[in-house]
Amino acid sequence: MISKFTYPATANDYRARARARLPRFLFDYLDGGATDEQTLRANEADWAEIPLRQRVLIDVDQVDTSTTLMEQSCSMPVVLAPLGLAGMMARRGEVQAARAASNVGVPFTLSTVGICPLEEVQAAASEAIWFQLYMIRDRARIEALLEKVWNSGCRTLVFTVDLPQPGMRHRDFRNGLASTGPRSKLLKVMQLLSRPGWLWRVALRGGPLSFGNLRDAIPDARNLDAFKAWIDAQFDPTVTWADIEWLRERWKGKLILKGILDVDDARDAVRVGADGIVVSNHGGRQLDGVASGAGKLPEIVAAVGSQTQILADGGIRSGVDVFRALALGAQGVMIGRPWAYALAGGDEAGLSNLLESWQQELRLAMTLTGVTRIADIGQAQLDRPQNPES
Ligand code: FNR
Repeated sequence: MISKFTYPATANDYRARARARLPRFLFDYLDGGATDEQTLRANEADWAEIPLRQRVLIDVDQVDTSTTLMEQSCSMPVVLAPLGLAGMMARRGEVQAARAASNVGVPFTLSTVGICPLEEVQAAASEAIWFQLYMIRDRARIEALLEKVWNSGCRTLVFTVDLPQPGMRHRDFRNGLASTGPRSKLLKVMQLLSRPGWLWRVALRGGPLSFGNLRDAIPDARNLDAFKAWIDAQFDPTVTWADIEWLRERWKGKLILKGILDVDDARDAVRVGADGIVVSNHGGRQLDGVASGAGKLPEIVAAVGSQTQILADGGIRSGVDVFRALALGAQGVMIGRPWAYALAGGDEAGLSNLLESWQQELRLAMTLTGVTRIADIGQAQLDRPQNPES
């Protein structure tokens, strides 16, 4: 039981605080997944199934969690994943999150459908942020956006490929977020009124609440019906590998394809020249029933691990889970909900605390498995039942 009189220590502690602070439709949007949320649950549960190998009497005086991702130095191999509407989780949410990420020394990724505009977020960060792009039908808008992203100093583009259409998220329907009409309006108003603190901090003092990178297309992010109509009209389900080739020609920086969950797709990603991939099922928000990130990572690493940089995401909830992903062969991880829980539950300071605590957990996992450098984490740190025949 989390109370105001205890310190939050884990992602789950911050989740409880976020739930208490956010209007229900916003918390559900953040917390929920597709359909019966089986994949959402598997994402978390499957990391817990990976036992680690305790080793002793190795000199672990100098343990270093730092690494390089996309030629950017990071204090640990963790990237804040792109989250739409994250700017509503706290006052000027993405600005606070980018600042926390910079302070701890990890990259922040701004979503196409983030709230705060690119320039505002970049100004808050001491390192170049990463930008996530969805392919929208209006290619001229994409080209203009790419130019703006490049001119802002961003050199890593995360192109998300697992959302030709948004998944079925029943929580959003139940609470009125994804439904229309007077009843759903009333539901949302009631949920808003039950969180006066959020109304004051975020809605009244945290404006403008527009989609910072799509301001001219959707001027008011509070008009969720207009947002949904725009998504339905503009998200482009015709996108194929030929469009990635088109994008690859236009983007001279690092290109990461996010949302790869299949070995054949991973091979194609390498073929079209992706500098990296994120093994991801979009945090269990797209097709319920697909495998977890932890489940798919080993075979994708075996197929393309020597040819491209591999990040994993979905259900990573601690520094120990980060270690597990590295032991399975990822070079780094993205985290989604945990950073937004910490931001919603504790603002910039909460997020900094959580990230620092994960770094400490990662350092301890390295210490107790007997590795001192990130690059040395691998299969040898997994406690696999040995087959006496082999
Ligand atoms: C997302 N995700 C996402 N991905 C993306 O490429 N662009 C986006 O705008 C969003 N928006 C978004 C909103 C919310 C509320 C969530 C929870 C997720 C997916 C995200 O980047 C990441 O893949 C998952 O969140 C990883 O799973 P965990 O860490 O949340 O379990």
